[in-house]
Amino acid sequence: MKHKSKKLVSIFALCSLLFALYSCNGQQVQTLKSPDGNIEVTFGIKDSKPYYSVLKNGAEIIKPSALGFLLNENDNFCCDFIILGTENDSKDETWQQVWGEEIDVRNHYNELTIKLQEKGGKKRILNIVFRAFDDGVGFRYVFPEQENLKEFEIADELTEFNLAQDFDIWSQQSRDKDYETLFHKRKISEISDTVNTPVTIELADGGYALIHEAALIDYAAMNLYNPNAAGAGLQPVPESNGQGTDYKSAPAGATLKADLTPWSTGIKVYAKTPFSTPWRFVVLADNLNALANSRVMLNLNEPCKIEDTSWIKPTKYVGIWWGIHLGYQTWGPPSAKHGATTENMKKYIDFAAENGFDGVLAEGWNAGWDSGYVVHGERYKFAETYPDFEIEKISKYGAAKGVKVIGHNETGGATINYENQLDSAFKFANKYGIASIKTGYVHPLLDYKERHSSQYGIRHYRKVVETAAKYRVMIDCHEPAMPTGWQRTYPNLMAQEGVRGQEYDAWSDDGGNPPEHTTILPFTRNLAGPIDFTPGTFNFNNPAHNARVHTTIAKQLALYVVIYSPLVMASDMIENYKNRPEFEFIKIVPVDWQKTIILDGKIGDFVITARKDKNSENWYIGAITDENARDIKIDFSFLDKDKKYVAKIFKDGAKADYKTNPYPVEISEQEVDYQTVLDLHLATSGGAAIQLRIKN
Ligand code: NOJ
Repeated sequence: MKHKSKKLVSIFALCSLLFALYSCNGQQVQTLKSPDGNIEVTFGIKDSKPYYSVLKNGAEIIKPSALGFLLNENDNFCCDFIILGTENDSKDETWQQVWGEEIDVRNHYNELTIKLQEKGGKKRILNIVFRAFDDGVGFRYVFPEQENLKEFEIADELTEFNLAQDFDIWSQQSRDKDYETLFHKRKISEISDTVNTPVTIELADGGYALIHEAALIDYAAMNLYNPNAAGAGLQPVPESNGQGTDYKSAPAGATLKADLTPWSTGIKVYAKTPFSTPWRFVVLADNLNALANSRVMLNLNEPCKIEDTSWIKPTKYVGIWWGIHLGYQTWGPPSAKHGATTENMKKYIDFAAENGFDGVLAEGWNAGWDSGYVVHGERYKFAETYPDFEIEKISKYGAAKGVKVIGHNETGGATINYENQLDSAFKFANKYGIASIKTGYVHPLLDYKERHSSQYGIRHYRKVVETAAKYRVMIDCHEPAMPTGWQRTYPNLMAQEGVRGQEYDAWSDDGGNPPEHTTILPFTRNLAGPIDFTPGTFNFNNPAHNARVHTTIAKQLALYVVIYSPLVMASDMIENYKNRPEFEFIKIVPVDWQKTIILDGKIGDFVITARKDKNSENWYIGAITDENARDIKIDFSFLDKDKKYVAKIFKDGAKADYKTNPYPVEISEQEVDYQTVLDLHLATSGGAAIQLRIKN
């Protein structure tokens, strides 16, 4: 008996010493907690298959979910692992953004690296690194350099997000369409298509989860599909592993599985060890303010690689643009309707100088637009102007008035042609004082072959941003791959499109963006990065199309606060801003902030956002509503208690209505302090924009 218990003790000791990582019932389980202890990630191996799960405050949000890969053809790299070892690390640092919704960003996490090895066969190694933050979790796969894994192909990434309940989810279906689609809310189980990330999930306790990826470099973008939904299943679902940690134990349909954008070959990623995937992350936020202020994505990107960032400047601009979209002007070639002419540019530069704008965008200034719109991208020349666009004269004229030309490089998706001219395009920009360039990739495929969000596309976009940094040029990328936080590393990447922007209100066959669209974007697409949405349309007459802006003017003003971007356009033709007192708000609203607070909101219904100017003590507020008129209260308790403010309020005027009477804006001033609660009425698809300046 004595002998037996000794034996038991020694078995136990063996279990705990040798198998500290490998519990005696055959499961290997590791846990990692966030610094505040509220979020817990569990990593485990069950039946040789790795999985992870996520808890918040003890409640399971993500149930055991698959990890791993299918390499090459039918080479499982998912299902035969043991844990070789683990490493722990942690960090608590605060870094400053060059520009942003706030200045200081705290990067505070605990890290756990799991080193896996295949039990049999080639005994290949795969590491998985988890980071737990107080507001979310990130993980990435690392393929170390090794004898038995050198060059390889990823046929499928098996990562799953097996949600604990069939929550409501905001998503868009857009893998092949540059993300220019609307977001819809449905149950996870109703997702029968492939959706891109970010997706925003409304949790049962009033909190939110955001699933997206960070640092998407030399890899394919992650889309998601529901492997349980009828008709879905682009890739095989890992088998149920039974006994407690069942991948399919969530209610039917609550699982989302990674679906990487493929190359035209069908392969998702071509890789060579050492190799790391982007980070997959899940933000877990108690409310909309915490969701909007999560910096998990930025923290998972590498620190800034640009030493001197003094040339990177948040920019407000006007441009030769909306008139082209409405059909009054053309991109090219030179004709009576050509928009980007020396004469027009001078007019726009005068206007910009008079009204405090930093730049003027010129579209259709360069050789290659001869087919009218973008058909043959390979014809574009990025250092050759049309004769009626005299860049030397224009840039000198602008320089004398402190206004820069904003360049436009529409590539038509012909990335090879663009890459061949990249140096000359940026040298041209340097020569003429062009500080930022809007790039464009309107063709549905890059080089007639590959998708924008494929590894092919990602490599190209990265090359452009890195080369631009070398030439000190800021980038505004239209038709991008979904942003994933590159701006931390390369803050010259100012804004991206990747959204159904306001241009749809110029020509979309469906009439334009619905009123709720901009109440959804701050909590979905905008969480992936700044959006060049191009608000600021003041004239709703559209001679050519049956589309128009579906807002009031006051809502147009509020969008400058609600939608975040450090590069912001006043989109309308400048003549439409004449004699419009409400234009003042667009002139005074900053484009760089020290702090952001979501004061109230409901995704799809309304949003009230407050932001503090980076360069003063003034605050700005934007409030917008969907198609329903709404009475809102703005509680100013966030203001400095020792200060008094003058609130300049631009709100919907009497009888404003987005369909019948979008124009009235009432402008008033009143004194407020931290005790004030302001009642405001927002018209249908209306809004209010407020400046709070310190009362001296
Ligand atoms: C689509 C872009 O979103 C738009 O802003 C631009 O004017 C056209 N492409 C032409 O490049």
